[in-house]
Amino acid sequence: MARAGGKLILLGEHAVVYGVPAIAAGLDRGAEASARPAAEPRLVVGDVAASPDDGSDLGRAFGAVIAELRAPAAEVELRVEIPAGCGLGASAAMAVAVARALQPDATRDAILAAAHAWESVFHGNPSGVDTAAAAFGGCIWFVRGQPPVALKVGAPLPFAIGIAGPPASTKEMVESVARLRQRRPQVFEKSLEGIRSLVQNAKLCIEAGDVVGLGKLLDLNQMLLSGLHVSNEGIERACQIARESGALGAKLTGAGGGGCVIALADDPQSVLAAWRNHGVDGFAAVVTESRT
Ligand code: MEV
Repeated sequence: MARAGGKLILLGEHAVVYGVPAIAAGLDRGAEASARPAAEPRLVVGDVAASPDDGSDLGRAFGAVIAELRAPAAEVELRVEIPAGCGLGASAAMAVAVARALQPDATRDAILAAAHAWESVFHGNPSGVDTAAAAFGGCIWFVRGQPPVALKVGAPLPFAIGIAGPPASTKEMVESVARLRQRRPQVFEKSLEGIRSLVQNAKLCIEAGDVVGLGKLLDLNQMLLSGLHVSNEGIERACQIARESGALGAKLTGAGGGGCVIALADDPQSVLAAWRNHGVDGFAAVVTESRT
């Protein structure tokens, strides 16, 4: 059985598409895939079956992975453990798990290239941060077009993760940010520079185990993301509830427009309880260094 985890983007989403560094972390839950030889390639996810030439995005993504790996025909069964479209990297986890199932001996670079081909079908212009986090796990420093670098994590980072809104399309959110960039290039560049300096400072906090400092940077990153119009009422409310229940900082994670919020907290359970009282489901995860 091949596995891959989902991801959290701690800081730098959207800006990473334009070359600003991002910090991301792998999640234990993600996707699991198994492959067996077959006459024709087929991908089965629950009740849905897809093949490379059936015209569906899932089929095309599967076909792109097979082509990139030059893998022989196989039937792949895929089980997904995280909700799609919520910023937790479900698509990247699926891509990496499928690639690993098709070719268990492939190098990590080959798996990343295949997963990137899958992501390009769904997202159009992916930076690669999601697939890098899915393939590496731990906590990574990611710059588009460069190999991810594992970060030293000075103290474990306990997060509460809340599903603050309905799923949103990463492709549409990335496109809306691209339109904003065209409309207001100077303001956009200022935001990118602001995010760049937050990410650089966050790296220092993570390495030094300064969770209080990191929390403040998460809040500031959320402010700049709101300025890019990728936040919404549900996300702002979930961040507010988290802060009021003791979180050191909170922000959306991933593309925004809905989906998940992350809250760094000494006691993630009290944040989760406060969210539950307001109808927000969630779970806890601790970010540590990569084990590979
Ligand atoms: C999506 O998880 C992260 C974005 O920055 C898009 C990307 O990096 O490809 C919004």
